[in-house]
Amino acid sequence: MWVLRVWWVLLGTLGAGSAQLLFENITSVLINKCNSSVIIPCLVTNLQKNDTRRMFIKWKLGGSGFFVFEGHARPMKTHKNSTFQSAELECLPKLSSGIASLRLSREEAIPGNYTCEVAESNREGVITVELKKTVESWFEPVENVLIIITMVLATIFYWTQLGVVATKYDISLLKKISLIIAGLIVTVAAVIGCILLVPDGFATSNQIGLGLIVLPAIILVPLLYILLDSVFEKPPCFAVTLLLLKALGYVIAVTGFAMSVSACPPLQAPVMVAGLAIIDLVAVIALVYVIIIGSNFKDRQPPRKAVEEPLNDAKGVMLE
Ligand SMILES: *[C@@H]1O[C@H](CO)[C@@H](O)[C@H](O)[C@H]1NC(C)=O
Ligand SMILES: *[C@@H]1O[C@H](CO)[C@@H](O)[C@H](O)[C@H]1NC(C)=O
Repeated sequence: MWVLRVWWVLLGTLGAGSAQLLFENITSVLINKCNSSVIIPCLVTNLQKNDTRRMFIKWKLGGSGFFVFEGHARPMKTHKNSTFQSAELECLPKLSSGIASLRLSREEAIPGNYTCEVAESNREGVITVELKKTVESWFEPVENVLIIITMVLATIFYWTQLGVVATKYDISLLKKISLIIAGLIVTVAAVIGCILLVPDGFATSNQIGLGLIVLPAIILVPLLYILLDSVFEKPPCFAVTLLLLKALGYVIAVTGFAMSVSACPPLQAPVMVAGLAIIDLVAVIALVYVIIIGSNFKDRQPPRKAVEEPLNDAKGVMLE
């Protein structure tokens, strides 16, 4: 008989052991660049009641609690610390099956050791999960560099073109001012865009940054037209081809942009960079072209003046 009694005592201690809640053993999770929200897992494997009303959950970071769920309260209550406004249980309906995982926004998900305490009636358990963050930018670093370089070149070429045209050809003050303002818009937007694009992660600010870089570049197309139009009385075929190519470059860049802006990772970055590179290429060809045409006419008269006011200009040359 005593054997049986020992057996029961043994079973009893085993039973006491099961007063402990057990968890799926996940000790760390990683936030990658594409996670806009984060789920910190806390999965209880041996609930008995499977009743949300008998459960109490507390999440802590570095020892201090920031999220509490009280299933026994009527109505059920959650409390959260003001620095964790986004905190919520991953799935309340599945809490009764043991899923006490916590969802946080990317901004509020500070790397660190998170502790999940769960109680079901008089049984309880604790697990700690380390949240780690990778430092990665939305685009690959080389893509970031290419986007920034192509945009810097586009603005440099534009300002150089404007400088060359403004010094060699007759442009009205109003036109000059508008060309400068339009150039400033593209330049400032691109600078702000680069500042917003580069920080790590895939947030709205990164998307806005990309938009500020790519979209205002459309202004460069009519600007090139106005510049060429100031040089030539009637833009020759070659100039028209340049304009069409520039517009094509923009269309390609915007296509790449549209396909990348809401994607993480952004798969069409090369298309965008190719479009921006075409814009640069056209800009540099146009620049060389305008300089060559300009120097050809230098010894004679600027082409526009030659048609409009040949006499005055001839006088001007003689006076010099
Ligand atoms: C981040 O997203 C990946 C899927 O892209 C997911 O597997 C991972 O669990 C997420 N990380 C966190 C901490 O939620
Ligand atoms: C979390 O805890 C682990 C193990 O105790 C420790 O190595 C790590 O440095 C801690 N992480 C942070 C961010 O405190």
